[in-house]
Amino acid sequence: MSLTREIEPGHHHEPGGNSRAGQRPDTVPRRLFRDGNAGFWNPDDIDLTQDEADFAMLPADERRLIRVLIANLLAASESVHQDLQPFVTAVAAEGRRDDEAYLTQLLFEEAKHAQAIRTWFEAVGIGDDLPWFAESGAFRRRIFLEELSWSLYALTDDHSPAAQIRASVTHNHIVEGSLALTCYAAWGKICQSHGIFPGLGKIIQHIATDERRHVAWGTFTCRRHVAADDDNWTIVTLRTQELLPLATALITDMLTPVESGTPFGINTEALTTRVLARATRRLRSIAQARGRRVEEIDRDHSPMRVEDENVTARPGGDTVSQTVAPIKPQRWPPPPTTSSNSRYEPPAWETGLTGAPTGSE
Ligand SMILES: [Fe+2]
Repeated sequence: MSLTREIEPGHHHEPGGNSRAGQRPDTVPRRLFRDGNAGFWNPDDIDLTQDEADFAMLPADERRLIRVLIANLLAASESVHQDLQPFVTAVAAEGRRDDEAYLTQLLFEEAKHAQAIRTWFEAVGIGDDLPWFAESGAFRRRIFLEELSWSLYALTDDHSPAAQIRASVTHNHIVEGSLALTCYAAWGKICQSHGIFPGLGKIIQHIATDERRHVAWGTFTCRRHVAADDDNWTIVTLRTQELLPLATALITDMLTPVESGTPFGINTEALTTRVLARATRRLRSIAQARGRRVEEIDRDHSPMRVEDENVTARPGGDTVSQTVAPIKPQRWPPPPTTSSNSRYEPPAWETGLTGAPTGSE
């Protein structure tokens, strides 16, 4: 089944806008769309009064960490909101209306996330610090202002599966799945273990739920392209290999210990290890699509189960984590790759991922 069909004005594949063929209730993107509708939340409904008082009582190093973490979450949401539109156009051009509907919802949710985070910043009185925290740092600039923007805007003129995979891995698996969800995990630890920031805790809980759907869509999209053409598996792994060291370097940079030690007792190495374990589960899910029919992938909801597993898995306590060696910041930059068609040489941390497809999950 070709994934590169283009729709020209007046030559739609389906007659009219009411065709049921374009809206199938059991596909992965349609299920995600329905779940998003069911989970609607409004940032303005969240009371931030206690958060303002909690922030004022914290020592300087803990306030600094909070600024950095939340500013990076804001950078991720606003970058995706700003740059995602070409992806919507690309899937619409293929007639993938379920994906178009879901990506439109994703775009809306990113705008809502940015609104919620900006409102929190203003509520605790540090809104003026946002530009510096959001724009400083080489890793942050490289990911949000270069890799994410370039990969998404490439879809303006190039709707190919290769371009979609590079954009999805960057957006869904690195920015959302690795960086954002790690920040949410750190925040969950801060809010729950210290009994502070009840408003932000609710915001983070809502955003993290939305983000897990976003990441699941990325896994589904890569699975679909890999099922259609096995050469696309190489593109998935190469793009992941390019960016994961950069993502772990940014996490380490964000959580650099201050004089009094890492605030809130956050264990940076444990967080980066968890990032790799999560990425490994997603890659394994994508690998399991190799050799399968695209129509089967469309209705296989296992990418959502992968994200559920990523929430419940004990750090370091499952077989996936045990196969992953922590990536250190000095691994960036990664070794150069020759081209997207070059034979894929799996990195050490991916050991055990490149076996034969295992079929249905
Ligand atoms: Fe997202």
